[in-house]
Amino acid sequence: MRIIQITDLHIYPKDEMINGVDTRQNFLKVLKTASDIPYNMVVITGDLSFFDADIEVYKWIKEKLEEYKISNYFIIGGNHDKAEKLAEVFDLKAGLTSDELYYFKEPNFIFLDTIKGFCSDEQWQWFEKKIIALKDKNPMIFMHHPPFKSGVPHMDKKYAFKQTDEFVRICGLNPNPLYVFCGHYHNEITLLKSNINMFITPSTYLQIYMFNEDFEVDHRIPAFRIIDIDKKQIKTTVRYVYD
Ligand SMILES: [Fe+2]
Repeated sequence: MRIIQITDLHIYPKDEMINGVDTRQNFLKVLKTASDIPYNMVVITGDLSFFDADIEVYKWIKEKLEEYKISNYFIIGGNHDKAEKLAEVFDLKAGLTSDELYYFKEPNFIFLDTIKGFCSDEQWQWFEKKIIALKDKNPMIFMHHPPFKSGVPHMDKKYAFKQTDEFVRICGLNPNPLYVFCGHYHNEITLLKSNINMFITPSTYLQIYMFNEDFEVDHRIPAFRIIDIDKKQIKTTVRYVYD
């Protein structure tokens, strides 16, 4: 099966450029390119809103997904989103527990909520049960924040995930390799640690220079990830969408 991952859309509320980017056009370019590729499932891993969670932006994204006939798509929130608003617009209320949006899809897909930069105790308990229940499988986890600091000083210092140890402890309860697909860092990074294989996917908005503590744009080429899974292997690649 093939999964398309799209992340960090940061759709600007007004129909104008921001930081030299038309966030809507960038997303649409990615959507067009991705929708021309045969796929089974699309996952959007957070930061749909530019800065503050915006219901009008969510409605616009939903309209575009329908327009491009994107079927079987799944959505989680990032630090610029609100779970309740996402659940309302994208009809995901079944996945809403308190103020977090996390859910499971057979056979092995776990969607976590890291909107606050950490997870509630309730979500960790749910995650632990799922990881143990999948002991004969390779769990595939989608979350906005990379669970590890990843060598981008601007992000590591100010915006890193706050509960790495808990994540690693729970993943260690499963004897198999786990695959984590995330965003948030606006970079393309692969990090392999103990039984966790983590892939950070670049944004559709802009990419951040990875050697600076201060924010600096690396480039403005939008991207998405393709994940191909079969019985014997997982293959993943990032596609950059040029004009
Ligand atoms: Fe983010």
